[in-house]
Amino acid sequence: MGLFNSNTVTRNGNIITIHSLQNNHSVNDFIRQMHGGYKKAGYEEFIIQFDNIPVCFPNAAVPIAGIIDFFRQQGVVIEGKSYKENLQAILTPYELPFHESELSRALGKIWKFQTSNDVYKIQTAIINELRRTDIFASGVLEGIEWSINEIMDNVLNHADTSCGFVMGQIHPNSKHVAFTIYDAGIGIYNSLKNSIHAPRSNADALTLCIKAGVTRDKKIGQGNGMHGLFSLIQEGNGRLVITSGRNAYQYINGHSAITNDVHLYPANQCLSTTIDFQLDYSQNISIDKVLTFNGKTFDFTNLYADNLENEKGELVFKIAELAEGTGTREAALRLKNEIINLMKTKSQIAVLDFVGISVVTSSFIDELVAKLLVELGLFQFNRYIKLANMSDLLQQTLQKSVIQRIIDEYK
Ligand SMILES: Nc1ncnc2c1ncn2[C@@H]1O[C@H](COP(=O)(O)OP(=O)(O)O)[C@@H](O)[C@H]1O
Ligand SMILES: [Mg+2]
Repeated sequence: MGLFNSNTVTRNGNIITIHSLQNNHSVNDFIRQMHGGYKKAGYEEFIIQFDNIPVCFPNAAVPIAGIIDFFRQQGVVIEGKSYKENLQAILTPYELPFHESELSRALGKIWKFQTSNDVYKIQTAIINELRRTDIFASGVLEGIEWSINEIMDNVLNHADTSCGFVMGQIHPNSKHVAFTIYDAGIGIYNSLKNSIHAPRSNADALTLCIKAGVTRDKKIGQGNGMHGLFSLIQEGNGRLVITSGRNAYQYINGHSAITNDVHLYPANQCLSTTIDFQLDYSQNISIDKVLTFNGKTFDFTNLYADNLENEKGELVFKIAELAEGTGTREAALRLKNEIINLMKTKSQIAVLDFVGISVVTSSFIDELVAKLLVELGLFQFNRYIKLANMSDLLQQTLQKSVIQRIIDEYK
């Protein structure tokens, strides 16, 4: 296969040029050029530049960002600049607490994480952003939330390195999400080799780690994380590639295989681990089935939804707090996605609480309330949606936009 002779990254002296970030072939090419320049040619300073790069996928960008960080930790100086934000993040990933304000748009960014607090914040921000970007089929958001938390946590627990890297992307046109989590740590084989599971080879370790109950140490873990992700991908007919050491385990189109491509890793004791998955979010999945381990079902709690609940068990959406302004159609659409996604998971009554809001634009109210009424239909709307604390002015704006919307929809 193509991993040996693909030329997506080239080197001229100490200048490395990345030509494509379309898939993980670039990762191998990048490591090969770094090894060539550093170990063989003896350069200690590099400049990285980017060719015209039309697409930047996580399975190429995230590992390369992690590998750059790895070489910098070895004392290698790596510089470069791109005016494109997504490419610049390969050279300087987003980090907490420094980029706290960037959490409000967490997708499409490479995040470097070092602590469980980082993991919590990044994971929460990513899920919040997904929840607002589109409508997800049931179970999918919970599955993703659970999985990325487990996989990022694994870096902190098992990789024996100081940090990990993550990026999530959503592609609304094809209704799928793509995630990659990378660390330049010891790798799955090294982590499992002295455990009771005693993998015979690197490839063997990759097949083992996704089995239920496989953990390097029963005192530390339960061995559910990788298996839960794998079940999610199986259930949702997604795609999973685990690369660690020289092998990769792939689950694509319902088939599992260990690839014979020889992957490169940053250094001898750093076999590194890349978890790369994609999932169609328009297909319902059973989260109970995904999170059943050895007959026991893990009870997933949606903390975000729990926090919105009032004493009657209704989900209260305080528009003033949740909306990113009450002016634009986009702000309303994002809030509406959130409301629909949460109503799906909890099948509870939603209260749209306008307390503290005196004016909204008619496009905001049209997108948020009038369209919701048309989409749900009068009876469903009446049953599941309550409007609270609307001033007279808001009521009039809404009244007008509902009539207009109904005329538009039915003329
Ligand atoms: N990033 C990683 N680096 C090294 N080893 C890992 C990594 N992620 C997972 N592993 C290995 O795979 C095993 C299974 O992981 P998981 O299913 O999440 O179970 P647990 O974390 O409970 O042990 C881990 O115990 C560890 O040996
Ligand atoms: Mg785990």
